Amino acid sequence: MRRLLVTGGAGFIGSNFVRMVLSEHTDCFIVNLDKLTYAGNLENLTGFENNPNHKFIKGDICNGALIEKIIDENKIDAIINFAAESHVDRSITEPKVFIETNVIGTLTLLEAARDKKLERFVQISTDEVYGALGPKGKFTEQTPPSPNSPYSASKAAADHLVKAFGHTWGVKYNICRSSNNYGPYQFPEKLIPLMINNALNNKELPIYGDGLYVRDWLYVYDNCTAVWKVLTEAPPGEIYNIGGCNEKANLEVVKLILERLEKPNALIKHVTDRPGHDRRYAIDASKITSQLNWKPSVSFEEGIKKTIDWYLQNQKWLANVVSGDYQKYYESMYANR
Ligand code: NAD
Ligand code: TYD
Repeated sequence: MRRLLVTGGAGFIGSNFVRMVLSEHTDCFIVNLDKLTYAGNLENLTGFENNPNHKFIKGDICNGALIEKIIDENKIDAIINFAAESHVDRSITEPKVFIETNVIGTLTLLEAARDKKLERFVQISTDEVYGALGPKGKFTEQTPPSPNSPYSASKAAADHLVKAFGHTWGVKYNICRSSNNYGPYQFPEKLIPLMINNALNNKELPIYGDGLYVRDWLYVYDNCTAVWKVLTEAPPGEIYNIGGCNEKANLEVVKLILERLEKPNALIKHVTDRPGHDRRYAIDASKITSQLNWKPSVSFEEGIKKTIDWYLQNQKWLANVVSGDYQKYYESMYANR
């Protein structure tokens, strides 16, 4: 039986990953360590909260003594590190916590992986470490890191630490750099769920700048299958780009959401741009496709439909996450913008 420590498993991608593993790979035991920040939510564990192959622990990845105790008590053989501060806009207003969790937290996990001689450390990174593209070209694994936001700078710093631990102490690692994910359980600070929530409430949809910024959208389930392949099939020391082959401008995405929800385009409002906004991301995922035989299974048209349907069917989940502090966040980020 594989015994995994998954960090950040109460967040968006982490909870989708834990759900997928528990349902499709029943020979796995998972300790799910999550600090339950604003982005972590026990309601994301619905359906597996009582699964005997899953144990949730509330805690911080910066707590080295806790990590070592979890590894010893649960005979952990691999760490998959999803835990992070993950939102670019928040990194612009409050960068410090990004350094604490994304850099110091990753360092703390690496020290434990090294000292406990774990079989594998999988770092969940991002395509944003590569910086921004113009109208042409794609990021490959050889593209030099050139991060532009405090978020992507903290993720790139973590990637360098992971590689340094591999080089210096032989920690067996992999790094996954995926493009923008979307799907069920995504916190409505990110583009797609924010726009769905606003449209459902007939609120304006705030498009930064001209709305022609391009992202390569990846359905979250497909990212989870890619991470699983990396964990179970990749040689150590390899980095993999994971992309959806779905480049879309933000305006196009938002118009699709409005169309599906039968809401008017008049809800779109162009607002002041994000400082330092990366123009375009695009992923060359040929390495993971050729080496690990992975490819995305969900088209954007299908994925956006599934995502919107999920939010329509889970309005109680949505109502709970947008109550309280979310309103303050929304005011501070969007009022008078
Ligand atoms: P998220 O913000 O939804 O979830 C992050 C989780 O980490 C939350 O549950 C939070 O409580 C937990 N966490 C934060 N600080 C912690 C700490 N100090 N100790 C323990 N837990 C802590 O993020 P997400 O969108 O699910 O992203 C997961 C990972 O994937 C991140 O590493 C992110 O950088 C990366 N990533 C995300 C995307 C995307 O489109 N969302 C794309 C590429 C890469
Ligand atoms: P986001 O979901 O924050 O992901 P990232 O910045 O990590 O790619 O944003 C996706 C794109 O949508 C990005 O170009 C910024 C844009 N955006 C808006 O135009 N309005 C919004 O309210 C948000 C949250 C994002």
